[in-house]
Amino acid sequence: MTDDGVVQVNGVEKSYSEGQVRALRGVDLNVPQGAFLALAGPSGSGKSTLLNLIGGLDVPDSGSVVVEGRQLDNLSEKERTLLRREKIGFIFQQFNLVPVLTARENVELPLEILPGYTRHSRREAADKMLRLVGLEGMEDRPPNKLSGGQQQRVAIARALVKRPAIVLADEPTANLDGETGMAVVELMRRMRNELGTAFILSTHDPRVIERAETLVRLVDGRIAE
Ligand SMILES: Nc1ncnc2c1ncn2[C@@H]1O[C@H](COP(=O)(O)OP(=O)(O)OP(=O)(O)O)[C@@H](O)[C@H]1O
Ligand SMILES: [Mg+2]
Repeated sequence: MTDDGVVQVNGVEKSYSEGQVRALRGVDLNVPQGAFLALAGPSGSGKSTLLNLIGGLDVPDSGSVVVEGRQLDNLSEKERTLLRREKIGFIFQQFNLVPVLTARENVELPLEILPGYTRHSRREAADKMLRLVGLEGMEDRPPNKLSGGQQQRVAIARALVKRPAIVLADEPTANLDGETGMAVVELMRRMRNELGTAFILSTHDPRVIERAETLVRLVDGRIAE
């Protein structure tokens, strides 16, 4: 086993419904630090399942997932949660911002459960990240006062504020029009360049696929060459 990648997936299998649905049928994947990788493939091919396993939200039936040198299925659920909080940022298709909080408060949220932050340093980190994603001046707006693209930028800031090693984005442009989606992908790439965070994006969007540096295609739970 090599240990150079930020994520290593080795022979992972995952079934649902008591084995009736074989979502992943032996997947191997090595994700280098700072990768910008798109996970493409038809609906039901296992993209979200793979992201959930890498994110430690679920465990494989067999095989292993290693994140920053730590094998997730050897960790207790509590240890996995801690690793996820510190090392992994999530971005979703529906943005998943908290509607009653401002942009700044949404970005501060992941820091509230991490040790070592004061109110002041949380706010400073959130404002800095909002500036980096181009939302300076909008810190006090709630999500419903922001466009879809702006909401996804807040979500990107929220994913990055704790400086994770990896960001997992499940169809991050699916709810955006073409132009806005492209701008959001460009932003993620720029953030990767500035912060060195590895991005793994699942997508159906040809424009996202075009902008990926590494393309992995899943078909029927296997990586297609
Ligand atoms: N919690 C679950 N319970 C039962 N079956 C599931 C569950 N999650 C996923 N599946 C099944 O596993 C297979 C892979 O699903 P997955 O969501 O990973 O695909 P996907 O590539 O993300 O698809 P899409 O592009 O539509 O998002 C599908 O057949 C799906 O129906
Ligand atoms: Mg999916």
